[in-house]
Amino acid sequence: MHPAGSPSPTGRRLKPPTEQQSPSRESILDLAATQTPLPSPIEAYFEVANRCNSLCATCPITFSPHEAAKQLSLDEFKHLVAQFPNLRRAVMQGIGEPLLNRDLAPMIRHLRSRGVYVVFNTNATLLTRRRQVELIESGLNELRVSIDGSTPETYLKVRGIPGFDRVVANVAEMVRTKKQLNAEDPRLSFWVTGMRENLEELPDVVDLAARIGVDEVYLQRMVFGFDANALARQEQTIFKEYRDEAQAIIAEADRRAGARGVVFRGSDTLSPLEAITDRAPGAEPWRACSRPLRLAYVTAQGTALPCCIAPFTDAPYASITLGNYLRDGVATVWNGGAYTKFREALYSSEPPACCRNCGLAWSL
Ligand SMILES: C[S@@+](CC[C@H](N)C(=O)[O-])C[C@H]1O[C@@H](n2cnc3c(N)ncnc32)[C@H](O)[C@@H]1O
Ligand code: SF4
Ligand code: SF4
Repeated sequence: MHPAGSPSPTGRRLKPPTEQQSPSRESILDLAATQTPLPSPIEAYFEVANRCNSLCATCPITFSPHEAAKQLSLDEFKHLVAQFPNLRRAVMQGIGEPLLNRDLAPMIRHLRSRGVYVVFNTNATLLTRRRQVELIESGLNELRVSIDGSTPETYLKVRGIPGFDRVVANVAEMVRTKKQLNAEDPRLSFWVTGMRENLEELPDVVDLAARIGVDEVYLQRMVFGFDANALARQEQTIFKEYRDEAQAIIAEADRRAGARGVVFRGSDTLSPLEAITDRAPGAEPWRACSRPLRLAYVTAQGTALPCCIAPFTDAPYASITLGNYLRDGVATVWNGGAYTKFREALYSSEPPACCRNCGLAWSL
């Protein structure tokens, strides 16, 4: 174990966190270059529920959940939030469906009262009119609906349940509810995890969004490798051999988005095309990752993970668990030996198992 500031196995020294103030935008952008963890995370993923009512063929919980079923209670949540003094942005999910947690709206309200930007992804099957109103009134900033296709058939194949019509109806109703309540927030978007099985439908997802009043569509990387039976397998990737087809489909989606006034983006800051662009051989793209320096990921059991990508990879679960925030407290885990060791490995030529394919098999 290497406590913060101690020499790494390669002799390089990670700087210990010292300042207590919230970081500037420049210092955030510079983080990976300096390899300096922030004194306290400015972003957090809260896995408010770790079970799901869907059966997505791309998702680890459909095959073998990593942890025993649990939801974060409101008390546990507030106890955690109090330990993130610099929190700016919260994502109310890990692996599982956030709407299964009945305390979701009070949790969001708690964060909003502290000035935190709040967002989450959902399968939207449980987005009833009552939940719509509750979420709008909670002050939620962004609601991202995972749709993964434009037809009931593809939805069933990828998401594992015959829920397409219900989801579209719920989201269309949410658009109307926002109008009735004269609410600008939450911003609504559709999310597509890109794979060969569904990419052809991407332009039609843009059309669907325009038709029901959803302003944004996002294409996100598919992470694969966690289970040989999952749809999230190498041969489904839209990188490599499928790239030419993928580029043509993305260009068409882009064209329609422009024509219909829908925003079309890749996840993170990348454009959809950039998100599937190859890196030079020999590049070590994981070194550009700053997630373990700035964000915390808390599972429903309290486990600290380095990021939202890691639990989708084939890395052994023990290799991505960096402590327990509920048991040991945020500062102890964030500054602890397991986290420090993980960060040291990340900025080396032999990264942790979960990081090896970041920026290569899927975008970083
Ligand atoms: C794990 S889900 C949790 C939130 C919610 N249950 C949902 O589906 O939106 C978070 C996001 O991961 C996406 N996802 C599922 N399998 C994935 C994979 N293999 N690679 C990347 N993202 C994936 C989902 O579509 C969703 O947008
Ligand atoms: S991707 Fe979301 S909706 Fe699908 S099984 Fe996983 S947690 Fe559930
Ligand atoms: S798995 Fe990827 S995103 Fe997560 S810490 Fe490693 S390089 Fe960063």
